[in-house]
Amino acid sequence: MRTQVAIIGSGPAGLLLSHLLYLEGIESVIVERRDADHVKSRIRAGILESGTVGLLKEAGLGERLNEEALEHRGIYLQWPGERHHVDFVRHTGRPVWVYGQTELTADLMAAREHAERVAFYEADDVALHDIEGSHPHVTFRDSQGVRRCVDADVIAGCDGFHGPSRAAMPATGRRTWGRTYPFAWLGVLAAVAPSTDELIYAWHPDGFALHSMRSPRVSRFYLQVSPDEDGDEWRDDRIWEALATRLGEGHRGWRLRTGPITEKSVLPMRSFVTTPMRHGRLFLAGDAAHIVPPAGAKGLNLAVADVALLSRALVAWLRDGSEELASAYSDTALRRVWRCTHFSWWMTTMLHRHGDDFDAQLQLAQLHRVVASEAAARELAENYAGLPIEV
Ligand code: APR
Ligand code: PHB
Repeated sequence: MRTQVAIIGSGPAGLLLSHLLYLEGIESVIVERRDADHVKSRIRAGILESGTVGLLKEAGLGERLNEEALEHRGIYLQWPGERHHVDFVRHTGRPVWVYGQTELTADLMAAREHAERVAFYEADDVALHDIEGSHPHVTFRDSQGVRRCVDADVIAGCDGFHGPSRAAMPATGRRTWGRTYPFAWLGVLAAVAPSTDELIYAWHPDGFALHSMRSPRVSRFYLQVSPDEDGDEWRDDRIWEALATRLGEGHRGWRLRTGPITEKSVLPMRSFVTTPMRHGRLFLAGDAAHIVPPAGAKGLNLAVADVALLSRALVAWLRDGSEELASAYSDTALRRVWRCTHFSWWMTTMLHRHGDDFDAQLQLAQLHRVVASEAAARELAENYAGLPIEV
């Protein structure tokens, strides 16, 4: 089988790339390891920058987003005895939207099915070949066990942190940077109305907590736990108690609503960047090239920004014969990647308990500064609400 762009991975990066290319008349084929239901039901992040929302709407993906996404002006930053609102709209003119990655994935998969674009789910032994030559191809066994080969002009590695694309890049000339944080998040989904109008990021001596949401009836919470934590040790009543304490129940009469917990999992936390994001005819996008810890809500938005740049570059190259944007892709994307890597690291180190009491006092001094200074608040707001696709 032949196509123009072989896309490995059907996460938000791969699905959106396929959609943006399709709109410009470029053919692609997606090869994904998991089955479609698994991809649709994975619970991930839930905050969209306005740039992301604008791009999705322009690409004709705004129908359900317009109906269901919740517009938020900002976030609350909190520590014991204090809760402050950081108003992104006042500082930057831009809000953010709460829209689960599962919803975005469903929209993208529906658009793919509607356009009858080809995708192979449950693909095994996915391997990349000849990325340095002019006949790159991807081999795999399909869901029936039949060996297949997709020949393409280029390969897009959108296969996340554990996929084969990054490893297919030669070691010479490749650099990686990373940090594994000494804590993790216990993520909890609950069938209960949010107890807040906008997200609460809470610093607490017991550890960080986040009150997020998915809809007016579904709340999402996170608790800082140790990286080797056994999620089963956290029974529901222990979770609600920890959330109530860390989120400051009782302060100015605020109460946490509780309800049935429908999902619970421990998420490791790391920063990771690999360069370059292109070698020969292989391009990396999204988590395949970089991971940010979730405290800045950047992972999904960064994947969308990569793909916005990459689709433009591939259209210019494959349709119009100009390789200039493709040659600039890695450097252009990495400027934004490093900005978001810094912001996510900064939010993470400011909000999580680690180190000693001296570190705790520094964190509190930083939090006080963010809510007391217009300039410091604007710096957080600009980064969280989202920088332009090209930084
Ligand atoms: N072969 C084919 N597909 C693979 C392989 C493989 N060997 N390994 C992984 N994949 C698939 C995964 O099953 C997944 O569906 O690649 C896809 C990668 O998707 P994501 O991990 O969602 O990564 P990405 O599309 O870059 O999206 C980044 O999603 O994971 C969140 O926090 C992340 O919000 C960020 C965003
Ligand atoms: C989420 O709702 O899953 C979420 C929100 C904000 C974050 C991280 C995760 O910073």
